[in-house]
Amino acid sequence: MIPRVTATVDLAALRHNVRVVRQVAPRSRIMAAVKADAYGHGAVPVARALEAEGVGALAVACMEEAMQLREAHLSTTPITLLEGVISIEEAALAVYERLQVVVHDHWQIALLEQLPASAEIHVWFKLDSGMHRLGFPLTDVPRLVETLKRHPAWTFQGWITHLACADEPDNAATPRQIAAYSQALQGVAGPRSIANSAGLLAWPEARVDWVRPGLMLYGASPLPGKLGSDLGLKPVLTLQSRLIAIREYDANEAIGYGQTWRTPERMPIGVVAVGYADGVHRCLPSGTPVIVRGSRVPLVGRVSMDMITVDLRTVPQAAVGDAVTLWGAALPAEEVAGYANTLAYELFCGLTQRVRFRYIGG
Ligand SMILES: Cc1ncc(COP(=O)(O)O)c(C=O)c1O
Repeated sequence: MIPRVTATVDLAALRHNVRVVRQVAPRSRIMAAVKADAYGHGAVPVARALEAEGVGALAVACMEEAMQLREAHLSTTPITLLEGVISIEEAALAVYERLQVVVHDHWQIALLEQLPASAEIHVWFKLDSGMHRLGFPLTDVPRLVETLKRHPAWTFQGWITHLACADEPDNAATPRQIAAYSQALQGVAGPRSIANSAGLLAWPEARVDWVRPGLMLYGASPLPGKLGSDLGLKPVLTLQSRLIAIREYDANEAIGYGQTWRTPERMPIGVVAVGYADGVHRCLPSGTPVIVRGSRVPLVGRVSMDMITVDLRTVPQAAVGDAVTLWGAALPAEEVAGYANTLAYELFCGLTQRVRFRYIGG
């Protein structure tokens, strides 16, 4: 059976991108973000490739994601729960599974304190240096240091903070956050971790003990106006489907739901077997490019659940069965995301279970 929609994930490109992180931040250890099913790329195969490449830790959002990796026998590289635990059961499981937990609030300390005093738990403290989402206020640092002293069985992993505007190279909020964080930790022991992809690419002072790249590992740029290739990254995922029909229409015929687009002349329209139920956003407008036989052609009319329609005037040789690329090396996801007024993050995470995944370069 020929798969309808295929995501080809190039693990060699993923490993290449890890090496780019190492070049940019040679003195930092890498905590690779594999949350959200490795940004839609498939958590288990991606985590295995990252482990083989020797990253220092894998970051997931929550216990379910950590357990998916453990159940696939990923046991060598530390796994960090970025949102920490939410119940005593999860705290006990984190100890049993040797997971590292990010602790961002006093209620989580209270949870961990319900564990036996001898429980060996690996703890990061998250500090709010200005993002104002998760984290202890910086003024809590002395109190947190005292907490650690009270719990000799806890292994302290370090101090995490997160940047709100790292993707804006001229935004003074980032140096303010880094300065406030560094000041609060002056003279305080423990590894530091500040930067996501944008942070480590754009802000040298954020390349501290640990960096936490996500998006750039998958080959996309987090920096506006730059593509992954501008940063030496290789796109990891290529999304492809096929032409399942080609029809010739007279001028002024309306195409698809809502009749939002009309043929300007007699012309061929291709129907591609991919739609929003696969992860191609419905808001992508007419004009969004796809690739047929090596040429960019525009999507026309509305994206429907299972299909899109494309203008084939510039590719008269196109035939039913031809591969159609929605994004990949020749058509960066960042660029396609721009048409949907979103970011590559959301395109990646939006791929659905109907897409068939294929891994190469492993
Ligand atoms: C705390 C934390 N660190 C690191 C990352 C990785 O970010 P990025 O994919 O922008 O590199 C994320 C992602 O949202 C995060 O929440």
